[in-house]
Amino acid sequence: NWSMDDFIDTQIQAIREQVGDKRVLLGLSGGVDSSVVGVLLHKAIGNQLTSIFVDHGLLRKNEADQVMESLEGKFGLNIIKVDAQDRFLSKLKGVTDPEQKRKIIGKEFIEVFNDEAAKLNGIDFLAQGTLYTDVVESGTDTAQTIKSHHNVGGLPEDLKFQLIEPLNKLFKDEARELGEKLGMPHELVWRQPFPGPGLGIRVIGEVTEDKLEIVRDSDLILREEIAKAGLDQDVWQYFTVLPGFKSVGVMGDGRTYDYTIAIRAITSIDGMTADFARIDWEVLQKISVRIVNEVGHINRVVYDITSKPPATIEWE
Ligand code: XMP
Repeated sequence: NWSMDDFIDTQIQAIREQVGDKRVLLGLSGGVDSSVVGVLLHKAIGNQLTSIFVDHGLLRKNEADQVMESLEGKFGLNIIKVDAQDRFLSKLKGVTDPEQKRKIIGKEFIEVFNDEAAKLNGIDFLAQGTLYTDVVESGTDTAQTIKSHHNVGGLPEDLKFQLIEPLNKLFKDEARELGEKLGMPHELVWRQPFPGPGLGIRVIGEVTEDKLEIVRDSDLILREEIAKAGLDQDVWQYFTVLPGFKSVGVMGDGRTYDYTIAIRAITSIDGMTADFARIDWEVLQKISVRIVNEVGHINRVVYDITSKPPATIEWE
């Protein structure tokens, strides 16, 4: 009889046996899977686990702080946080092509991770939050041919570690259940999917700190209003995009010429196909008013009403 309590006990036993008195390295992304692995491993082997959390500056508002507060503060994980914002921004300077941006972010990520890992001694194992679906999907490369996907789970191939993948028999919802059982906070466990390249692919065209701030601030407003409306479990993924063109508006007596924010909100089972979410007009109106009033340099808000296919979920 399958129960999550049994799963936790068995996994902890298995991890202890496999690791012995050796050390384990984990790449934390702030997402559900790597966080759950971190908490599970910490429960099993305590300070034999060292985690590296690369802040590439492309995370959502307050996200890095929340990860640190929860995983380091509450659960006591030993986390090396790398502040690599400048490094990523300078590599992205002047780059506008989506695939090139993805590749630069992915490559830089591996380099930063490897640099940190190289400073550590006596590590024998690398833990990853690979899920059962990741194992199955890696056989078929369809997603990869559309966009070069990147996440912490794919790291780092050239380091010679033995792999520990305690979630590789679980589906996403089971990984979430495991997180809940381990006492992890609801916001962390129910976090919506977030792409490895982060906000770097939600600022269309060249990524600058100013534009990242617009996306972060508008995204926070969207998340707040979706939560207030009680829609955060119904809408599978929701975020804002900065297309980067300007249009004319009017505020008070004056003409404005400023940026547009696009809202993307979809329903989906697995992200392979998606439909735009039928969010209530009243909710959308509140979001629109708040974004224009509270976020600088925005004078227009549009709602993306395209399904996948033909559009993808992310804009880049
Ligand atoms: P698309 O835009 O391809 O997105 O329709 C499908 C789902 O995948 C997420 N996504 C990524 N996830 N690394 C990830 O781990 C990536 O590089 C990446 N790109 C897109 C996207 O947010 C959506 O949930």
